[in-house]
Amino acid sequence: MKSFFLTFLLSSFYSLAHAGSLAMGQPCNPGNNRLQTGTFQFWSDCNSVTFCSDQGICENKGCRSDDFPFGYPKNSGDLPPKCPKGQFCPDEGSECQDILPVGSPCQLNRDDQCEGPPNYVELTDTSGRGLNNNGSVCLNNVCMWANATAGMSCTVENTPYIVYGSQGEFIDIVSRGNCKLGQYCDSVTRVCIQNIQLNGACSADKECDSMNCMSSGKCGVAAATPTHFRVWVYILVGVGIIGGMSGVLFGLYLTHRKQREIERAKRARYWQEQNAFHQNLLKMREAARASVLSLPQQNRELPEDLLQYSDEPKAPGLQNFYDTSDLDFNSKIPPSKSKMNPGRF
Ligand SMILES: *[C@@H]1O[C@H](CO)[C@@H](O)[C@H](O)[C@H]1NC(C)=O
Ligand SMILES: *[C@@H]1O[C@H](CO)[C@@H](O)[C@H](O)[C@H]1NC(C)=O
Repeated sequence: MKSFFLTFLLSSFYSLAHAGSLAMGQPCNPGNNRLQTGTFQFWSDCNSVTFCSDQGICENKGCRSDDFPFGYPKNSGDLPPKCPKGQFCPDEGSECQDILPVGSPCQLNRDDQCEGPPNYVELTDTSGRGLNNNGSVCLNNVCMWANATAGMSCTVENTPYIVYGSQGEFIDIVSRGNCKLGQYCDSVTRVCIQNIQLNGACSADKECDSMNCMSSGKCGVAAATPTHFRVWVYILVGVGIIGGMSGVLFGLYLTHRKQREIERAKRARYWQEQNAFHQNLLKMREAARASVLSLPQQNRELPEDLLQYSDEPKAPGLQNFYDTSDLDFNSKIPPSKSKMNPGRF
C-alpha cells in the first residue's frame, strides 16, 4: 500500500522523462511512480511488463486490467491474470486487491476499486458515460457512493486533460461528482442540481442531460445520437442516381448516333465514287464497241475483257442508299437500276 499512497502524492508532479525502461530485477525508486501530466497515465521507472515493488526492485506484473495489455509480445501465453469479481488490479499492476470500502483511498478514475452501495441497483450508471461504477465513484482519491440528491452538498473533482486537436492543444476539464443519476454537482456551490433538459442554457457538458453543451450555450442532443435523414433526402438521392444514369446513357446514345451518321456518309460517298467509276467504264465500253463496229470486217472480233463488263452494274450492298431520298447523290444512274436488297445492311 506504500507505493499506492505515493502515487496519489506525486500525481501532481510533472516530469518530461520518457516511460520507464528498467527491466525485471533492476533497482527502481517507487517514489517516481506518478501520473503523467495531461494524459494522467500511470508511469513508473520500470517497463510496461514490470512494476516497481516497495523494495525498490522491478518485478513482473501480478495482474492486469486490460484484455490486451500493452508491452507484451503478440499471442503471449504468460499474461498476468485479470482479477476476479470483488477484487481489482491497481494501476501499478502489482497484484489483485480486495475492493475498498467507502472512504478508502483509490486511484484516479478507478471507480471500480470502490465497493458498491447497498442500493447499487438504483444508483448504478448504465448510460455508458462512466458517471459511476456499480453506484460507487472515486473522487479526489476517496471512495464514495454516488448517492447525493438535489440540494444536498456534494463532492466534485475537476481533471484538466490536455487535448490535441486540429487547432493545436487545449485543456479539456472533466468534472465528476457524487450526485445521483440525473443530477450534477455544481463546481461553485458544491450542491447537486437537476440536469438541464434539451435547449436549456448550459456552461458545461455535465450540466446537460444529454452530456452535450453546444458552443451556442444550449444543451444539444447527445453526441452519440445517430443522424436520421428525412424521406425527401432519400427521394432526392434516388432521383439523382437515376437522373445521372439516364444522362450518361442519353449522352452515349447521342455520341453513337453522330458517329453512325459520319460512317453512313462515308459509305455513301464511297458508293458514289464507285458508281461514277462504273459509269465511266460503261462509257468506255460503249466507245470501244462503237469503234470496233466501225472497223473493216476482218478485224471484228470483240475483245473479251471489254465484253465481260456488259452485265448490269452491281454495287454490292449499296442499293439501299440509292433509294434513300434524304441523301443527295447527284446520281446519273437511271432509276431502272435501283433494286432493293433487303438482305444487306
Ligand atoms: C455491486 O455492489 C454490490 C454491493 O457492494 C455487490 O454485491 C455487487 O456484487 C456489485 N456488482 C458488481 C457487478 O460488481
Ligand atoms: C451516501 O453515501 C455516503 C458515502 O459516500 C454514505 O456515507 C451515506 O450514508 C450515503 N447516504 C445514503 C442516504 O445512503
